[in-house]
Amino acid sequence: KSIVVLISGSGSNLQAIIDAIGSGQINGRISAVLSNKADIFGLKRAEAAGIPQIIINHKEFDDREGFDAAMIEAIDAHQPDLIVLAGFMRILTPGFVRHYEGRMFNIHPSLLPKYKGLNTHQRALDAGDSLHGCTVHFVTEELDGGPLAIQAPIDIQENDTADSLQQRIHGSEHKIYPLAVEWFCAERLMHTASGQIQLDGTTLPPEGYQF
Ligand code: GRF
Repeated sequence: KSIVVLISGSGSNLQAIIDAIGSGQINGRISAVLSNKADIFGLKRAEAAGIPQIIINHKEFDDREGFDAAMIEAIDAHQPDLIVLAGFMRILTPGFVRHYEGRMFNIHPSLLPKYKGLNTHQRALDAGDSLHGCTVHFVTEELDGGPLAIQAPIDIQENDTADSLQQRIHGSEHKIYPLAVEWFCAERLMHTASGQIQLDGTTLPPEGYQF
């Protein structure tokens, strides 16, 4: 399978997927890494792995439609089976999302549907939650609102801070994101036409597979 990964930052999830391909866990290849920023560490990871890089600066476009159209053109040149959003910090247009519906993942640092959007760790702490975590989901037009594929819960400890939670959750992300990509590439995990998520032919509950 051909995978295109979209990033805007450090790309540690990209690295986890690169490593899982290297170890043979994922039966696929990253055909390209696309970034909206030139100077990010994630691009160095792509370069080190010999993966073609695409940089499209969103600031060079008048509107989201123009930026997304340019991304679609560049991405589709690689005939992707799967699009992986890995810390890609731009909101996508409905047209972009529909174009890749059923074959685009995002990872989000909360137990969705809780805490869509930013500052998830502080919000979980402020709410006094005892559970937190991260979620891989299929992308639909609703921001952080698509059907859930895999969720990894962690316990919040008394001395946790937003930073300590972020660190621990990053550790979980680096396990469940490669796993979701592995399952998708093996055609074990899919978003059906009726909107359900199936793993090995069985419909998953709304909270997804619990890691
Ligand atoms: C992750 O925390 C992910 O949940 C969020 O963006 C962050 C990306 O981190 N969507 P990295 O660039 O993969 O290190």
